[in-house]
Amino acid sequence: MTFTVTPVTPHCGAEIIGLDLREPNPVNAGVLHDALAAHSVVFVRDQYLSLEQQVALTSALGDVLRVPYIKHLDEHPDVIAVLKEPDERKISTFGGTWHSDFSFLEEPPSLTLLQAVELPEVGGDTLWSCQYAAYEALSPGMQRLLDPLSAVQTAWPHGTRGPGPNAAVSKSVVMTRNDPTADREVLHPVVRVHPVTGRKALFVNPVYTQWFEGMTEAESRPLLQYLFDHATRPEFTCRLRWTPGTLAIWDNRCLLHLAINDYDGSRRLLHRTTVAGTRP
Ligand code: SIN
Repeated sequence: MTFTVTPVTPHCGAEIIGLDLREPNPVNAGVLHDALAAHSVVFVRDQYLSLEQQVALTSALGDVLRVPYIKHLDEHPDVIAVLKEPDERKISTFGGTWHSDFSFLEEPPSLTLLQAVELPEVGGDTLWSCQYAAYEALSPGMQRLLDPLSAVQTAWPHGTRGPGPNAAVSKSVVMTRNDPTADREVLHPVVRVHPVTGRKALFVNPVYTQWFEGMTEAESRPLLQYLFDHATRPEFTCRLRWTPGTLAIWDNRCLLHLAINDYDGSRRLLHRTTVAGTRP
């Protein structure tokens, strides 16, 4: 098998050419794991995986995680459809704020796989931001301050303090709202050590991270806001212009990501699967 892995930015993202992921096998899985350890997010174009093939590839990479609070496809409970319809205008969309997938779980997911099915002619790109680079760019004093801290993460958008059923958010991804179980507070380190690379990465995000352990929300807010802004500086990011059949696979343990909501009037549909992770 001949393949190439070409970085798209110095900190994160690489395009892999020469892999056929329709028949997942240990060689393909090894190539993907190595490329993810080096680049954190990889893009493989022209795959056109069926839902069964995407789930099979997901399980070749680890244990498949069935995520809570989001309606799965009826026939494929391990897959969620990330969809925005053309008539959904001037509303917020699924994944439209910087986040790490389901960081509020006790054991947040390690990897996410997202394959493009239907896309706007232009727009609907996705951004990722490297949280190793974000951590490493902080001063030694700030690193020392953050290293021992933990922060509370909650599934806020799905809980009793979330936007509720009538909010102006896309209805195409059916999400649980007002569920008290989503208010549960889970403590995770602010700086996590990646279990594969051993590198330190910032692990806070503006969707799910609420306050630092042992501090009030008001006390936490200024430093958290500083970290949210710092974590997404343009020089830490890469951007994917999707084409149908493109598969992106990313590592939630060292990246944040954001779906750009700039394509009102067009349909955008992608299929998402998730690999389980361990406690940070
Ligand atoms: C997500 O946050 O998983 C969705 C990303 C996207 O739609 O580009």
